[in-house]
Amino acid sequence: MTSLPQIRAFAAEDWAQVWPIFREVVREQETFAYDPGTSEREARSLWVVGPPGRTTVAHTGGRVLGTASMYANRPGPGSHIASGSFMVARSARGEGVGRALVQDALDWAAAGGFAGMQFNAVVEGNTAAERLYADLGFVTVGTVPGAFESPTRGRVGLHVLYRPLP
Ligand SMILES: CC(C)(COP(=O)(O)OP(=O)(O)OC[C@H]1O[C@@H](n2cnc3c(N)ncnc32)[C@H](O)[C@@H]1OP(=O)(O)O)[C@@H](O)C(=O)NCCC(=O)NCCS
Repeated sequence: MTSLPQIRAFAAEDWAQVWPIFREVVREQETFAYDPGTSEREARSLWVVGPPGRTTVAHTGGRVLGTASMYANRPGPGSHIASGSFMVARSARGEGVGRALVQDALDWAAAGGFAGMQFNAVVEGNTAAERLYADLGFVTVGTVPGAFESPTRGRVGLHVLYRPLP
């Protein structure tokens, strides 16, 4: 990749490029506790959220490199804490796309008045995600042992991460 990715709000025509990224990540079953048989229609309704949530894409030119979905972590009395999910195309990883997506989500949450951001299910051993989130100020609040069944590693933990927002 030669230029930094741009982040913008998801537009309907992006789905054709977001779906293959979602499908590959979810079918691999290494990083998301989603049903690997999730249909395209179900995937779109899971991933593409409208206000008060937001879905974004990272792109260079017309090429979508990654995507994020962000929303209130819980309804009602839990709605002042944000959460989010992030996926980068395998071919675009390790080039700053994930960092740009997470930083944009943090900026969005801070601007929207959220008090913090919580991740509920970061797979233990997902080194890229663990390092990226730690680098952006998230701390691991706890780990549910064996809560995620990896096809290659067996049962591993799910971390809960949190970062307060200014
Ligand atoms: C996790 C993910 C979003 C990171 O996106 P990315 O574009 O590859 O990450 P970046 O290039 O922005 O790297 C940001 C930081 O993450 C860490 N990182 C990224 N790839 C890494 C790797 N292969 N090994 C170790 N650390 C890595 C580094 O700390 C890196 O910072 P640095 O470049 O200053 O060293 C991406 O790997 C992905 O989509 N994985 C599959 C889905 C997933 O795991 N989503 C998150 C679920 S919680």
